[in-house]
Amino acid sequence: MRAAVPKQRTPHLPMPSRVILPPSADARHAAPVSPPRNLSWKTVVTSPEEPGEPLSISGTISQPDGKPAEGIVLFIYHTDATGYYNEKDDASHPRLKGWMKTGPDVRYEFRTIKPAPYPHRTTPAHIHAHVYGPQYSERSINDYWFEGDPFITAKELARMKEAGAAPAIISLKRNGAGMLRGIRNITLKRAQN
Ligand SMILES: [Fe+2]
Repeated sequence: MRAAVPKQRTPHLPMPSRVILPPSADARHAAPVSPPRNLSWKTVVTSPEEPGEPLSISGTISQPDGKPAEGIVLFIYHTDATGYYNEKDDASHPRLKGWMKTGPDVRYEFRTIKPAPYPHRTTPAHIHAHVYGPQYSERSINDYWFEGDPFITAKELARMKEAGAAPAIISLKRNGAGMLRGIRNITLKRAQN
C-alpha cells in the first residue's frame, strides 16, 4: 500500500553513464533478473490497464564504429505513472521493465507508459537502460529523458555532466491514436572488457 511508503525516502543515486557492470549486478538499480528466454526486437512493457500515457520509443543500435549491432540486448525499466518503481519503491526490482534483442536490421521498439518523476524530488522523469551482448558485457547507458520536462534545468544538466552522464532527451510526438512516440538511436561505447 502506498500509505506504508514514507514521504521522504532515501534517494537512490542517478546511474552514471558508461559504467562497466558485471553482468546483471548493478547494486543500485536493476537486480539480477533473468530476461525471458526468447527475446524479440520489440516488446510491450505494460498491460492496457496500466495507468499513464501510452508511450512508444524506437530506434537502432550501432556498434562504436557505426556498424550494425546485431544480437544486442536492450533492457529498460522505469517508474510508473505515480513515480514509483514498485509498491516499496525498490529500484532494484522495478515492476515496469522489458528486454529487446536486435536482429539483422538492428531496430528496437518498446511500448509502455510515460514514467512520472520521483515524488517529492526534482529528478526529471526517466527510463533507465542497460545493453549487453556477445563480447559486450552489461553496462548502463545514458537515461532517456523527455523534452519539455520542467525538471530538466541547467542545474540538473550540470549535475549530470559532472557525474559523466549525458541523458538522451527525447522529443515526443503524439500520433493519431494518442500514443506518444519518440526515437533514440543508440551507439554503443567501445567495450573495455
Ligand atoms: Fe531511477
